[in-house]
Parts: sequence; structure tokens; C-alpha cells
Amino acid sequence: MTAPLAKLAQIPPRVAAVADYEALARERVSPGAWAYLDGGAADETTAADNRAALARLRLRTQVLCDLAGGHTACELFGTRLSHPILLAPVAYQKLAHPDGELATVLGASAMQAAMVVSTQASVTLEEIASVAETPLWFQLYIQHERAFTRDLVRRAEAAGTLALVVSVDAPISGLRNREQRAGFAFPPGIEAVNLRGLPPLPPSTSGALFDSPLIATAATWRDIDWLRGETKLPLVLKGIMTAEDAARALSAGADGLIVSNHGGRVLDGQPATIEVLPEIARAVGGRLPLLMDGGIRRGSDVFKALALGANAVLVGRAFVHGLCAAGAVGVAHVLRILQAELEATMVLTGCRDLAAITAERVRRADARV
Ligand code: LAC
Repeated sequence: MTAPLAKLAQIPPRVAAVADYEALARERVSPGAWAYLDGGAADETTAADNRAALARLRLRTQVLCDLAGGHTACELFGTRLSHPILLAPVAYQKLAHPDGELATVLGASAMQAAMVVSTQASVTLEEIASVAETPLWFQLYIQHERAFTRDLVRRAEAAGTLALVVSVDAPISGLRNREQRAGFAFPPGIEAVNLRGLPPLPPSTSGALFDSPLIATAATWRDIDWLRGETKLPLVLKGIMTAEDAARALSAGADGLIVSNHGGRVLDGQPATIEVLPEIARAVGGRLPLLMDGGIRRGSDVFKALALGANAVLVGRAFVHGLCAAGAVGVAHVLRILQAELEATMVLTGCRDLAAITAERVRRADARV
């Protein structure tokens, strides 16, 4: 097995698209880290579907539009963002680069992209916040100890994060077959530093998942009510995949939703996010900001998600590939490529701002018109 190559100090001119980062990334991390960072659950059908479903959509142009003064800006929870591309919460970014989340936040700051800091970050939230020059949101996994969870919320508030992204789709981790096959284990020195001091859960006595302390203490809708009373930060529920759950989230007082199947990392067999986005957008009816992640590798993918009802998107693997390959510069470059492609797509479809990107601008490749 060959050792990982050194990180790139500059970006080769042949890197034309986000997809070009994948090979550069893979050869710059260990096989185990790659399995963790890039893998999906089980047969990885959902991870692949996220991309395939975006690729099935086609763009419907409008020619000769007046586009002067157009822009890609949007507003989320009172903050103006220069483009609608956020960095998704990704755990343990030191697996991708020795500087981990500190490299990511520099890249995000260079491109003014909002970054969602993971509960399982490998750098403390406070350190990340101390160098951030871009909006930060905090992703919260509700921990088995609610007092510890409350402290995490207090820390997120004190660090100046602007929203709380509560992941509701992963009470257990997925079947990580790829990691197991690659023999993945966390290298020494990489840990979820924000969870230091959290007492471990006792093991299950019977071995049955349903009998385990993990399930006994897993979050429910009651915890969303509890959180609602604990913080004034906007609560964004991440991992909503049906109209029914979207309606429930609305009545629970959520301030935003993220349509996400966790990049296909938790339950393989879920549909692609772009496939369920329209039904959720209908259920939400514009009452809340709606975000989507999963499979975005092109600015035209961002455009397709916006056309089908998202107000903004998050990218995970796309920026992680940039981080693995070239640290902060790679992250910034990935974001730059996506934003430039989004702008070009808007110009060529006659959309001068994000509000102009409506469902009429896309069609399925197999649609009979
Ligand atoms: C994952 C968990 C940490 O996707 O959210 O790996």
C-alpha cells in the first residue's frame, strides 16, 4: 500500500470541475479515511442515486433576457449570503487534512460561504469561531445526556453561531460496509473534541438494538419541543425526507428544514433528495427556508435544487474532496467553481436572481412534453 501523497500547494490548471478533485483527494488520504469520508451506507445505492437523479434533470432556457444587475445572493434567518451554497456538517475533518475544520473555515471565509460546524468536529467550536470570517451554524446531535446537550447549545450561542441544525435522521449510524472492509479505525489524535466529558453510554445488555441504552435515550419530537424552549436560535431540522415529517416539523416550531438523506450514509434505500424535494416544498409552502443536500457537484445541480423548491443547498463530499486535496485553498476553489457555474447557468437560463429559478426551468430527461 502506498502512503498518501502530500497535499497540493497549488491547484493544477487541469482542475476544471469539482469532480476533478475526487481523484486528487483519494490519493492524499489513507484508504481508511477515504472509506469514512467518501463512503455511503451498505450498497451505497442512495449515495449514487443522489447524483444520478440530479443528472436526469434537464434545463429549460430563456433567451434574450435582461440580466444586468443580476446576482446569486440570498437571505437566510436574517443573514445575507452572497450565494446559496453552504458547507454541510461533516464530522472529523482532520481525517481529510491535518488542520481539519480550521482549513475548512478559512476556505469558507474566502468564499463567504456559511459553514455548519459538526457536533463531531475534530477542532473545538470555539477555535473554529475564533478564526471564522463567515457565518457559522452549529449542527447538533442530541446527546443521551440532555444536560450535556444543553451545554452544547449554550456554547453554540456563545460562539456566535447563527442557527442550530438538529440532525434528526441518524439515531444510529449506518451500515458502514465500506469502512469495515477498509479496516477503518480512528487514528490517534482525531476525536470529537466538543464531546469531551460526555460519559459513555452503557453497553446493551441483551445485544438487541431495541433494548439498548442508545435507543432508550434517542431523541424524539418531545426533544424538539424541549430545544425550542431552550434557545432563541433558529432551529433547522436536518434529515427530513417526507411531506408528513415536514408537516410535523412545522407544527413543532422548526424554523427551517434540510431535505437530506445524510449523503446516503445512514439508511441505504432512501430516495434521492432531489426526488423528494418537490413534495416537501409543497408541504412547506414557502413558510420556512428549505435547504437540500446530496449529490451536488455542479453549479447546475444547485440550480436544479433551487428550481424544485430549495432556498439554498449544502455540499458535503464536494468540499471534503477539496479539503483532502489542498486544504483551505481546495475548499475555496470548490466553492468558487460551484458559484461560477451557478452564475453561468443562471445567465444561460435567463434567471437574474435566485427567485427567478422556478420549476419551469427544469424538466426530466425522459419527460414527454
Ligand atoms: C456521519 C455522521 C457522523 O455521517 O453524521 O458520519
